[in-house]
Amino acid sequence: MAIAMTDEGSLAERAASRSKDPIPRRQEQTLLIGHITDFHALEPGERLGGKLDTNRLAEQAVEAMNARLSSSDVVVVTGDLTHDGKAGAMREARTILDKLSVPYLVLPGGHDNPANFLDTFGDKPYLASWTRDGGYSVDDFPVRFVAINTNSATADSASITPRTCDWLDRTLTADRDRPTFVLMHHPPFQCSIPVATYLRDPEVTWAATLKSVIGRHDQAQLVLCGHVHRAIQTVWAGALVSVAPATCVQSEPMFRAVPQSSDKGRRVELVLEPAACQLHRWDGGTFTTYTLPTDMSYRRVG
Ligand SMILES: [Fe+2]
Repeated sequence: MAIAMTDEGSLAERAASRSKDPIPRRQEQTLLIGHITDFHALEPGERLGGKLDTNRLAEQAVEAMNARLSSSDVVVVTGDLTHDGKAGAMREARTILDKLSVPYLVLPGGHDNPANFLDTFGDKPYLASWTRDGGYSVDDFPVRFVAINTNSATADSASITPRTCDWLDRTLTADRDRPTFVLMHHPPFQCSIPVATYLRDPEVTWAATLKSVIGRHDQAQLVLCGHVHRAIQTVWAGALVSVAPATCVQSEPMFRAVPQSSDKGRRVELVLEPAACQLHRWDGGTFTTYTLPTDMSYRRVG
């Protein structure tokens, strides 16, 4: 797994500056966390661009989770459940997710209509506290999960309100001892995917505030995101941020000429390559991240 360096110094410098205390190892508390994202589900019978059956691809991701996880594990779903936000598409996403054989934690992405999301998933107890200015925490597993809302008015932009950052700080402060995974749709770091240019906008200040909050909490070890349709990892605020690939189409990075946030009509180059998911294995003291295809029909050769 490649770890990209940020422009804030070496890993060693960052590690020294944070002086993380090792979290007590809890051998008996192993856990697999399946991470699937960006279904872009449509109403039954519809196809993305008239061709691509994103609903079937989402089902394939669920089948891959069921094949790899046991009943004590959990799946996290980091948004863009739907492509167009329609209520019928959201219900389709719910139908697909309910085929999981393990519990799942879900949050909306930029393509999702917030009202349709809550109408469809509002019976989940953890979503009782879900608002524009907050999130939820789940304490039922060997690691703690804390999810925050990053949605703004447009699908490709992101916004985390000051109240959300305050809520996250208070929520993390309430339990500093448990290893914690933070869930959010939009990645908080700049990358070479055109849909992540929001961080180049000089008016965006939430990323710095969020970084200071996460950086104050040593137990926040892993930040899980979606949105950019590509498996990407970086070290940020002392945590590993891991973006899972989409279950439908992937995006092509633009390493040499990433458009600026002010560029209108910036084009995302989408590619149809084998869809994938991530599995994060917590062994009671550390986690390891695997990126795996969702198509389980690959034949074993050894
Ligand atoms: Fe997406």
